[in-house]
Amino acid sequence: MQLVTNSAAMKNVSDVIDRVAATDANVLVIGESGTGKDIAAQSIHERSQRRDRSFVKIDCAALPEDLLESELFGYEKGAFTGAFEGKPGRFEAANGGTLVLDEIASISSSSQAKLLRVIEERIFERLGGKQSISIDVRIIALANIDLKEAVRARVFRDDLYYRLNVVTVAMPRLAERAEDIGPLASQFARHFASRGGHNGIRISSEALKSLAEYDYPGNVRELRNIIEQAVMASDGETIEITNLPEYLRSAARLMQSKQRKPSLAEIEAVYIREVLDFTRGNKTRSAEILGISRKNLYEKMRRYEIGKLRPLRDE
Ligand SMILES: Nc1ncnc2c1ncn2[C@@H]1O[C@H](COP(=O)(O)OP(=O)(O)OP(=O)(O)O)[C@@H](O)[C@H]1O
Ligand SMILES: [Mg+2]
Repeated sequence: MQLVTNSAAMKNVSDVIDRVAATDANVLVIGESGTGKDIAAQSIHERSQRRDRSFVKIDCAALPEDLLESELFGYEKGAFTGAFEGKPGRFEAANGGTLVLDEIASISSSSQAKLLRVIEERIFERLGGKQSISIDVRIIALANIDLKEAVRARVFRDDLYYRLNVVTVAMPRLAERAEDIGPLASQFARHFASRGGHNGIRISSEALKSLAEYDYPGNVRELRNIIEQAVMASDGETIEITNLPEYLRSAARLMQSKQRKPSLAEIEAVYIREVLDFTRGNKTRSAEILGISRKNLYEKMRRYEIGKLRPLRDE
């Protein structure tokens, strides 16, 4: 996957990545879930001198404290029950390259202290080991925006924060960079179409308009999921507006669609949703606007499954 940088906001991110890639500085990548922190970390590594060395990633939130430390620093034979043989950790594996610490905010204060020492002294010992190992690793830490808050609340050490945050890469929300939506959607469409054995798939202009107007609380990952489903729902050649989830379509745009004319029921369902949105869910007002009885409105809402919560994100 290519890092899409069509918008001014992402061009700026890309410039920061270029500048930091040329150095050995540690980097903190912050951003909401799904904004592309992982892919940004990968780009830093690939654009750096270290690109031919290893790129190692560890999810700090996925492991309890002692497991995380043995994964990071490795252990010697007999370090704990069950350690029949020694094992190198991720720091050793990443030597000369890049180590990505995902969800850095979730590490315990004891692990924070150990991490700080490796960063400051560039040496550490395996668990249960006496021999000091020196390493040369660039650390890229990933965090949701609340890391600064964690520092203020004193659950994250400020000295470690400053060591990790030599340079910040801030990933903007997808809604703040509408110019990326089209190119991202095309890239995902090509990706999922080729996985399904299709070559070349296009997105109709009505579908693109609907995609561009949505606000993506789940950011790029949500767009990716929408396109994956749309490719499966499509004929393999064109993604039409009717292949998009219902909450992305408007009745007016559905009717304008040149490729496939929707049924009356489809238009009715989408239009009832629009009116309910407009009245903020007021059934009496909605029924008035629609020119039907409240009872009739309730029947239609049941038939079209309107009013059920729609899934926003799936991860
Ligand atoms: N600018 C981009 N260009 C191309 N693909 C992108 C871009 N940004 C994100 N993606 C894709 O969107 C998906 C989500 O991105 P990523 O996993 O990097 O998000 P994240 O910020 O790490 O989210 P989380 O905090 O939930 O781990 C991935 O499949 C990634 O490849
Ligand atoms: Mg991630």
